[in-house]
Amino acid sequence: MSRRRLLGAAGVAGAAMVGASACASAEGRPKPQDVLRGRVVAQTTEIPEGGGKVIVQGKLVITQPEKGDYRAYSAVCTHSGCTIQEVTETENIHCLCHGSEFDIATGEVLKGPATEPLEKFSVTIDGTDIVLDKSDDS
Ligand code: FES
Repeated sequence: MSRRRLLGAAGVAGAAMVGASACASAEGRPKPQDVLRGRVVAQTTEIPEGGGKVIVQGKLVITQPEKGDYRAYSAVCTHSGCTIQEVTETENIHCLCHGSEFDIATGEVLKGPATEPLEKFSVTIDGTDIVLDKSDDS
């Protein structure tokens, strides 16, 4: 094996080890949404009827498909993990990374490359507060 080839192989192995350790350190951490359980994540006045809003810090998308009906989804795209960036005027949750679109009422995939729906979370409305439920069973 030439010296150049050997160095290239070592670089690939090193990058793989860095990637593996980055993944390992992410395991066991709470999801951003879990940290927000039981807390106010948005105000009803911020969420347009027939649309939604991305709560970037909490990695959440809050939608209002029908008047007074609020839904919450993970803003982590199921395709490759980008943070969802917008809820479009066509009433879809839209990931700009590769163009996946999700339904604001169900979180189901409307357009790939994603094949899995967004993770759903339960919310409770208290006045104008949208509170992320402590568990999704409530
Ligand atoms: S990460 Fe969202 S479409 Fe690829």
